[in-house]
Amino acid sequence: MSFTNIRPYKGITPKLGTHTFVDDSAILVGDITLSDDVSIWPLVAARGDVNTITIGARTNVQDGSVLHVTRKSINNPEGNPLIIGEDVTIGHLCMLHGCTLGNRILVGMGAIIMDGAVVQDDVFIGAGTLVPPNKVLESGFLYVGNPMKKARPLKESESAFLKQSAINYTELKDDYLAELNINPK
Ligand SMILES: CC(C)(COP(=O)(O)OP(=O)(O)OC[C@H]1O[C@@H](n2cnc3c(N)ncnc32)[C@H](O)[C@@H]1OP(=O)(O)O)[C@@H](O)C(=O)NCCC(=O)NCCS
Repeated sequence: MSFTNIRPYKGITPKLGTHTFVDDSAILVGDITLSDDVSIWPLVAARGDVNTITIGARTNVQDGSVLHVTRKSINNPEGNPLIIGEDVTIGHLCMLHGCTLGNRILVGMGAIIMDGAVVQDDVFIGAGTLVPPNKVLESGFLYVGNPMKKARPLKESESAFLKQSAINYTELKDDYLAELNINPK
């Protein structure tokens, strides 16, 4: 059997937009959709097996992060897909499970976001934060701690950085693609 890091599950293979970068050491399985310019960094594990994973344009998922979902059941008819919006930065070693993230969000290193949680647009989640199931994080705020607490409104510079971080990572992945002689289309 030959090794491939982008694998089908029950006949569904991950779908990649244009200019995406998936490091060879990252594993993507099943019903996963990456929009254009998404970057998936070394040792990420994403399993779209018992539900779907959708990742919006220019979002980056950094090294060692784990993405998974929850199956449909009698008590939870839709299960919990994982939905991540555009221009989102997922730091190193994060765990995102069956949650929904809007646009322009930074998830700090080592954060855990659990099933049913909803992160609105323009939110900064500090390193190591635990977001319990079904919590809603409001647009424009910093959240930190375990369990998470709403810390304060974002400073202007932090709000601006949410988009800038996505731009930085989009440029970085273009460098990686060039290094691998994959021409952005
Ligand atoms: C939360 C964060 C944005 C700093 O916010 P800040 O308001 O500037 O915080 P400060 O450094 O002024 O510290 C204020 C207090 O928060 C605490 N604090 C800082 N970061 C924290 C975190 N992630 N979780 C819990 N508490 C934190 C500090 O210890 C300090 O506590 P004290 O007042 O009791 O001493 C930053 O620490 C952080 O977590 N950034 C995420 C970086 C990251 O992971 N990037 C992705 C990788 S590419």
